[in-house]
Amino acid sequence: MPALLKPSEIVRLLSEHVIGQEPAKRTLAVAIYAHFRRMAMNAAESGVELSKSNILLIGPTGTGKTLLCETLARILGVPFVTADATSLAQTQFVGDEIEAILHRLVDRADGDIERAQRGIVFVDEVDKLKAIGDGARATSGESVQHALLKIMEGAPVRLKDGRHIDTTNILFICGGAFVDLDRILSRTHSFGFISTGGGDDRKILERLNARIKPTDLREFGLIPEFAGRLPIVTRLHDLDREMLVRILTEPKHAIYRQFRAMLASDGVELRIEPVVFEQIAELAIEYKAGARSLRGIFEEMMSDVMYAVPDNPGIGRVIVHSLFEQPKLAAAEIKAV
Ligand SMILES: Nc1ncnc2c1ncn2[C@@H]1O[C@H](COP(=O)(O)OP(=O)(O)O)[C@@H](O)[C@H]1O
Ligand SMILES: [Mg+2]
Repeated sequence: MPALLKPSEIVRLLSEHVIGQEPAKRTLAVAIYAHFRRMAMNAAESGVELSKSNILLIGPTGTGKTLLCETLARILGVPFVTADATSLAQTQFVGDEIEAILHRLVDRADGDIERAQRGIVFVDEVDKLKAIGDGARATSGESVQHALLKIMEGAPVRLKDGRHIDTTNILFICGGAFVDLDRILSRTHSFGFISTGGGDDRKILERLNARIKPTDLREFGLIPEFAGRLPIVTRLHDLDREMLVRILTEPKHAIYRQFRAMLASDGVELRIEPVVFEQIAELAIEYKAGARSLRGIFEEMMSDVMYAVPDNPGIGRVIVHSLFEQPKLAAAEIKAV
């Protein structure tokens, strides 16, 4: 087991890769800290058997749900797999699919069951289960939830190779966009009328109002038992222009850094004017897929350059002044453009 990282350390490490989404990072960090604490205490047989709290991540597409879980697993050094609730529902044999997911987790742990039993499983699109299950070859969304419920609670599952994996200490993080949740929340929340003196009271009230109750999740077809197994709920928010610009440039694996490194290995310096990142961000906002469309826009902008560079050893730098102009290619010696 890795040394117990404090929540603040987890947040700091997450921030090297994930921009913004601070409330989600904090909630996740606290949950992870508690999760590892709990495993350590249960292993030490302290007398208090602590139970597991799985997590529900709610947020629009492309805002960092998968990235958060992936990064978290890497920080913790535990194996990690993702699965889609909707594809679980598209099969007749949901049990086999779940077994396959756990098998992938064992593979990620290089076959080490012990390690796999401390891994993280991210199940995406749990908000889409309601709509599914009419097809002949499908499992109903509700049956999928029951199947997931069982492994989330902790159960021994027999793998194809005959070995067993115990899911008791596997952390399950479920994700979904839960479109229109805010509309439901505004209908069902009633703390608003309590009069307060403002300040801290106001903040606590706002927090209570933003709280998502299991009953709110029912509108998305989540059965109470399933929602009840996800006591930690946190939200990711739409990324604004400034955050998208930061995503392009700041994280360790930022797209800009990747292209700079790639071109540098060809002896070419890449320079992109700040306004270009803003143009890319604005276009991405129009595409409504969060940060997901950034790479495509960026790749397209760079496509001609990436084609030309290998053929022209004379090119020493590439300067992009605008997303809507051809990048300028220049020889290395030329200083001014
Ligand atoms: N908050 C963020 N910080 C940095 N990169 C992000 C963020 N959100 C999304 N991305 C980028 O967008 C891509 C899609 O994000 P992902 O985490 O898969 O979104 P989703 O919320 O749909 O799971 C990722 O590969 C990542 O590079
Ligand atoms: Mg995702």
